[in-house]
Amino acid sequence: MTAVRNEIRFLLNDREERLSAIRSSDNLLDHLRLSRRLRGTKEGCAEGDCGACTVLVGRRVGEGLVYEPVNACIRLMGSLDLTHVVTVEHLAGANGELHPVQQALVDHHGSQCGFCTPGFVMSLYGLWMRNSRPSVAEIEEALQGNLCRCTGYQPIIEAARSIEGSPAEDKLAAERADVLARLAAMDDGARVEIRTGEDEVIVPASVDDLAEVLASRPKATVVAGSTDVGLWITKLMRNISPAVFIAHLSGLKGVEVTPEGVTIGAGVSYDEFQSVLDAEFPHLSEYWRRIGGWQVRAMGTVGGNVANGSPIGDTPPALIALGATVTLRKGAERRTLPLEAYFIAYGKQDREPGEFVEALHVPKPAAGSLDAAYKVSKRREEDISAVACGFHVELDGNRVKVARLAYGGMAATPKRAAAAEAALIGRPWALDTVAAAEAAIVQDFQPLSDWRASAGYRARVAANLLRRFYLETAGETVRLVRETA
Ligand SMILES: Cc1cc2nc3c(=O)[nH]c(=O)nc-3n(C[C@H](O)[C@H](O)[C@H](O)COP(=O)(O)OP(=O)(O)OC[C@H]3O[C@@H](n4cnc5c(N)ncnc54)[C@H](O)[C@@H]3O)c2cc1C
Ligand code: FES
Ligand code: FES
Repeated sequence: MTAVRNEIRFLLNDREERLSAIRSSDNLLDHLRLSRRLRGTKEGCAEGDCGACTVLVGRRVGEGLVYEPVNACIRLMGSLDLTHVVTVEHLAGANGELHPVQQALVDHHGSQCGFCTPGFVMSLYGLWMRNSRPSVAEIEEALQGNLCRCTGYQPIIEAARSIEGSPAEDKLAAERADVLARLAAMDDGARVEIRTGEDEVIVPASVDDLAEVLASRPKATVVAGSTDVGLWITKLMRNISPAVFIAHLSGLKGVEVTPEGVTIGAGVSYDEFQSVLDAEFPHLSEYWRRIGGWQVRAMGTVGGNVANGSPIGDTPPALIALGATVTLRKGAERRTLPLEAYFIAYGKQDREPGEFVEALHVPKPAAGSLDAAYKVSKRREEDISAVACGFHVELDGNRVKVARLAYGGMAATPKRAAAAEAALIGRPWALDTVAAAEAAIVQDFQPLSDWRASAGYRARVAANLLRRFYLETAGETVRLVRETA
């Protein structure tokens, strides 16, 4: 029988917090600003988009402590158990002197109105601790999720390149052993259950415990990175109770690489999967870096992106093209199905009450296969796709043997383009074959018009991306705007 406690425990800067009155929808930003009066952390958009609320959250991984930048506005309190939350106030020196990251921003005039600055400081701090000599590209990637409306990014980038000091001598490094010891002392291996009236927060102790919790609360809201669920609260005022928090579960964070493919736990974040992708599926490396910004990629999980069933999620098209499968678990029962079969209709997935996504398996592409994934959105990063797609083609000689073309943003679910695939199979991999497949795409999809894109634009882009895929695989140089950056 799993032990139960009725409070979450975490460290907020130096202070130990034990909270027994949190509700499922309570977010970290309100706790910081309203309850603890730590008002360095700002509220801009309240939807994870602007980065003004960026703080670091450290959690134990193996023997170490990993700090990630997160958006406090959509980070829910229930997810903080056994973590170290670091706000901009923690950076002050013993006599109130500025931290080297802050000093660099001052020296390079990286702040005007200052509203965005604490968020930039925290993202840059997170980057500097991992990499004290970042390239401009690395700085830009770390700042994808931080918006500044008045300074302009050049001085901020200059500041980021000129931070003095050494992360090894930094405050967080100096206090690391102490923080680890304090977090370990709080960890009693118990499940957390907090009831406030009708509201319920549950933090399971393990994956088996999660299965048990969901069996008794089949309608509970599973909360992983809360990069979707957080917005249900801040934008839709939805009640998510009972809420079951899973992002901390190490049993959902496994990544297993075999010669056949890669199996990842549903709780692996976009960011945690990046290095595996770079090594195993390099054609997805850049595509992945365009999902959200760093904060969203640190919080959001691949399992959550699949589980939510969104027709515009970026991972399903890329994973379906690779032939991925998803494993669902209910109690002790598991079943595995092709990822494309999981998406039934808009808002309807093949997941029963009490069932959860446990893992995804992504087969390695056959030797010599042609693979690509593309995303078209109004902004390059921190933006939802108008159209996203994943392509996988295997050739026998020059004839197409296998074709998997999967699209997002074109239908009510992520979906394969069956007619376009049929137009490729058995034919030479040549421009006229691809042109026939492009023409067939209209049979596969009747896309919607919305404020992201018109139906006509989506249909044209879907065909053009297939053309681009052909041209790139046929050795044509396709000039991309980013190559000039
Ligand atoms: C600023 C911003 C930018 C974004 N940019 C992008 C983008 O570029 N591309 C993109 O695709 N998405 C984007 N998103 C959406 C979001 O990042 C993803 O959908 C994310 O993957 C959801 O994962 P999560 O762990 O945060 O899920 P949560 O928000 O915790 O949950 C999402 C849904 O999945 C369910 N769920 C989560 N895990 C499981 C599980 N293991 N089993 C069963 N159900 C589960 C939850 O109950 C909920 O219904 C963005 C979001 C924000 C806020
Ligand atoms: S307030 Fe904008 S990301 Fe949180
Ligand atoms: S300094 Fe004003 S928004 Fe960035």
